[in-house]
Formats: sequence, C-alpha cells, structure tokens
Amino acid sequence: MATRTQSRSSNRSSSPRNSSSDSNRSGGSRSGGSESRSAFSWSEGAGPVIAAALGGAAIGFAANYGRKALMQGLEATAGDWDEVLATEHDLALAVFDKMLATDQTQTFKRKMLLMKLTHALDKHAHQEEMVVYPALREANEAVSADQLEGEHGYIKTFIYELNEMGADSPTWLEKVREFRDLVSRHAHMEEEEVFPRFKEALNEEQNAHITRLVHRDGFWMA
Ligand SMILES: [Fe+2]
Ligand SMILES: [Fe+2]
Repeated sequence: MATRTQSRSSNRSSSPRNSSSDSNRSGGSRSGGSESRSAFSWSEGAGPVIAAALGGAAIGFAANYGRKALMQGLEATAGDWDEVLATEHDLALAVFDKMLATDQTQTFKRKMLLMKLTHALDKHAHQEEMVVYPALREANEAVSADQLEGEHGYIKTFIYELNEMGADSPTWLEKVREFRDLVSRHAHMEEEEVFPRFKEALNEEQNAHITRLVHRDGFWMA
C-alpha cells in the first residue's frame, strides 16, 4: 500500500510539460544566423531528447494506468457498490488493528500505517462524497447523507491530530483507538442502516449505475 501512495505522489510530479518549446520559438527569431528556421523548428539535437521525454511520460502514464486498473480490478471483484465500500471498511479497520498492535518505539511503522490508512480513507471518502451521498440526497436521504459527510470531517480531524502529535506520543494509541471507534460506528451506520435502505429503493439499472460510478471514481483515486 505504501507503494500506491508513493506512485501517486510520483505521478503528480511527472508532468509531461516541455519548457524548451517556448525558448526555441523566441530563440529562432533572435539568433540572426544564416539558417532560416521555422518558428516551430526544434534546435539541433532537441528531437531525440524530446522524444525520450515524451516516451518516458507515455511509459509513466501507461504504468500508472496499469497500476490503477490492477488496483481497481481487485476491488471490482467485490461486487455491487455497497459491497465494494464494505470491503474497504474492513481493510481500513484491519489497518487500525495493525496500528493498535504497535508500541512507542515503532515510530516508522506507525507513520507508514498512518499514511496507508490516510490514502485508503481518502479514496473511500471521495467515492462516497462524489457518488453515494449525492445519490442519497436525490433519494430524500439528505439527513443521513449530511450526518455521514459531517463524520468524514471528524475522520480528517483525527488524521490531522495524529500527524501533529507525532508517532512516539504516549497518547498515540489512545487517539488511534478513539479514531477506530468513530470509523467503526460510521461504517456500521452505512452498512447496516443507510445503504441497505437506499439500495432497496433502487432498481437493477440504477444499482448498476451507482456501482459503475463508484468504480470509476475509485479508479481515478487509486
Ligand atoms: Fe462514509
Ligand atoms: Fe464508508
């Protein structure tokens, strides 16, 4: 999971933008050389460099796309949207249990687990906030949707507090325990009350549509 986080951040920094094009355009008009060059011609030797850069960007994009497809493919086996989300609840709670099994000396492990949990909860919340909760509001479930979305705010607050307090804090475990309780209660409300009630009112086509949207959102967040 740490590699997912690392890949995601490296993807953000690998922009395929090429800054040499602007300098070449202006450079061509100022050079005053005997060779007549098009305003869009590349300087000598730039071609292979640009081709290599574009090739690298394409490989990076393909690798990232493949990674996303793999991650999402694994989740897609979980079934309908509510089953996908329930599986993600279980995975998050399992990370909490690993965090609770650490001691004060295992600061690196605690930081890695918190990073993994943050990414998992971030992706999960995005799928709910961008797809499921809006659909709930459309189905006259705005009170439940607003309560659940409000709790997501407190989930982010716990992440903020854990990052602020440091992994060697004597109250770290206590904070993680409180955090787990909130996520567990929240997941229970979704799985046992709100989602089944909402799903029951959906026809097959609507249910399949929500499932597609959740998968699509999860794919981009993976
Ligand atoms: Fe939620
Ligand atoms: Fe959830």
